[in-house]
Amino acid sequence: MEEKFVLAKKAYDNAYAAYSNFQVGAVVVLKNGEYIIGSNVENASYGLTNCAERSALFAAYSNGYRKDDILELVIIAATPEPVSPCGACRQVISELMNPTSIVTMTNLKGDVKTVTVKELLPFCFTEGDLNV
Ligand code: THU
Repeated sequence: MEEKFVLAKKAYDNAYAAYSNFQVGAVVVLKNGEYIIGSNVENASYGLTNCAERSALFAAYSNGYRKDDILELVIIAATPEPVSPCGACRQVISELMNPTSIVTMTNLKGDVKTVTVKELLPFCFTEGDLNV
C-alpha cells in the first residue's frame, strides 16, 4: 500500500474520538516527500473538537510549511463511501492549500475519490473578499 494511505490509517488509529466514536485520519503530503499526519481530537465540550483535516493542516503550518509546499491532503474514515470533509474544513482547506491541489478521500475498504480544492468548495470566501 502507498505510504500516504498507511499513514492516513495510522492517523485514523490515533484519533481521540471519545464521544462520537467516529475516527478520522488525515495526511498532508508535502512536495519535499515528507508527510504530516492529523487526527480528530474531541472534547467533553463538544464544540471544541478539532477535525482531522484541520489537525493535519495546522500541524503542517505550525512546522513552517505553506500552501506552495503542499501537494495533497488525504482523508480516511470507516465510511461506506470515501469520507467527505465537513464545511468548516473545506473553508480551512481552501485557505491553506492551493485551489488546484488534490484532496484524496478514502475509506478503510480502500475506495478512493479525488477532487481539487476548488471542486470541494467553489465560490469560497477568501482573503480577497476582505479588501472592500
Ligand atoms: N470529523 C473529522 O475529523 N473530519 C470531517 O471531515 C468530518 C468530521 C470528526 C469530527 C468529530 O470528531 C467526528 O468526526 C464526528 O463528527
